[in-house]
Amino acid sequence: MLAGRRIVLGVSGGIAAYKAVEVCRRLVDAGAFVSPVMTKDAERFIGKVTLSALASEKVRTSMWDEAEPIPHTKLGQGADVVVVAPATARVLGAYAAGLSYDLLTSTLLATRAPVVVCPAMHTEMWEHPAVQENIATLRRRGVHVVDPEVGRLAGGDEGAGRLADPAVIVAAVERVLATGHDFAGVRVLVTAGGTREPIDPVRFIGNRSSGKQGYAFAEVAHQRGAHVTLITTVDRAVTAGIAVERVETAADMEAAVARHSNEADVIVMAAAVADFRPKAAADVKIKKGEGVPEVVLEPTPDILAGLAERKRHGQVLVGFAAETVDVRANAADKLARKRLDLIVANDVSAPGAGFEHDTNSVVVLAADGTEQNVPLTDKRQVASVVLDAVAARLPRRPG
Ligand code: PMT
Repeated sequence: MLAGRRIVLGVSGGIAAYKAVEVCRRLVDAGAFVSPVMTKDAERFIGKVTLSALASEKVRTSMWDEAEPIPHTKLGQGADVVVVAPATARVLGAYAAGLSYDLLTSTLLATRAPVVVCPAMHTEMWEHPAVQENIATLRRRGVHVVDPEVGRLAGGDEGAGRLADPAVIVAAVERVLATGHDFAGVRVLVTAGGTREPIDPVRFIGNRSSGKQGYAFAEVAHQRGAHVTLITTVDRAVTAGIAVERVETAADMEAAVARHSNEADVIVMAAAVADFRPKAAADVKIKKGEGVPEVVLEPTPDILAGLAERKRHGQVLVGFAAETVDVRANAADKLARKRLDLIVANDVSAPGAGFEHDTNSVVVLAADGTEQNVPLTDKRQVASVVLDAVAARLPRRPG
């Protein structure tokens, strides 16, 4: 997995910088081409000569080498993966805030390659809300974080914040490279958000979906190389390269899905589509003085069931089941009834899970009877696990 891969190894200024030497050696031994970048503070902890001797080329430390103009773009564009070990609070903060003040932080902003950060710092710093918020921001953006370990720290202290073992870091890099582009050439259609069914021009029947889970799918699939079309009822920031179509009602969503479903290899229905809508929306605002209106409802089209009826050979269909009671049984019933390949059973009453949270906990049920429990984690990680299950069900492609 590592042979021939180009890895930028960023080393920032903490006592754990000495372990970067071992990370570098392991990557090179496995056949990777390692380009080391050290910050000024890293040079206080280890010598440039040490890393240069072990890496595939000399250490770079500066943006201002006349022999090599704009080194950050060259490094960023050429990398298969960028690894920062150790990553200090300062580097993590700059990266989360989009600041570039040296070669390493500029390279992090200049790359489209996956990035693995390996934080290391004292426990108090690691647990500081500012650092934790930066880590959460980076995770949300798809940065892979190798969590620090609990153990002995500089100065004889004990606690969380010790750089992960070099073997763990190298294994994480291998994993990132392995899943890096397993969706290359795969067309993925994702729906996100809750539909709004109008009662009159100012009122609607809606639900609490924020779109976070659907967007997480779109982002992770895009990062893994898929061509992603996202049909959404909400406006959220999205990575350039994801095609976005904005809709409002279940009928809009059904029409947009129909336009794209035939060409899609994978369809993920993460949207919370209304099951009922007002039979007739009033053309003008219903006045309070006219008394309490009677709103007559009718069922909306079941988009997912329609997709299952038209399903192409080899297409993978993923539904969600938002439930509050008998979660597994209800999800299993929807999986069979809607003839899906996978269903993500989502107990939306569980703490930290479901609507609006950044986290979720789900059980992924497959038509072949297998199931996987995903305990509370970031919504991107949920998407990753489900996409792993999708990848295993995609028809084998030539090459
Ligand atoms: O958006 P977030 O705030 O991040 O919250 C995420 C989520 C809770 C919305 C998400 O994880 C989730 O559970 N989405 C599915 C919500 C839902 O509508 O579940 P359901 O059990 O009512 O529907 C079952 C499946 O049928 C879903 O895939 C749904 O998209 C689909 N459906 C439902 C009704 C309908 N008329 N047409 C459909 O296609």
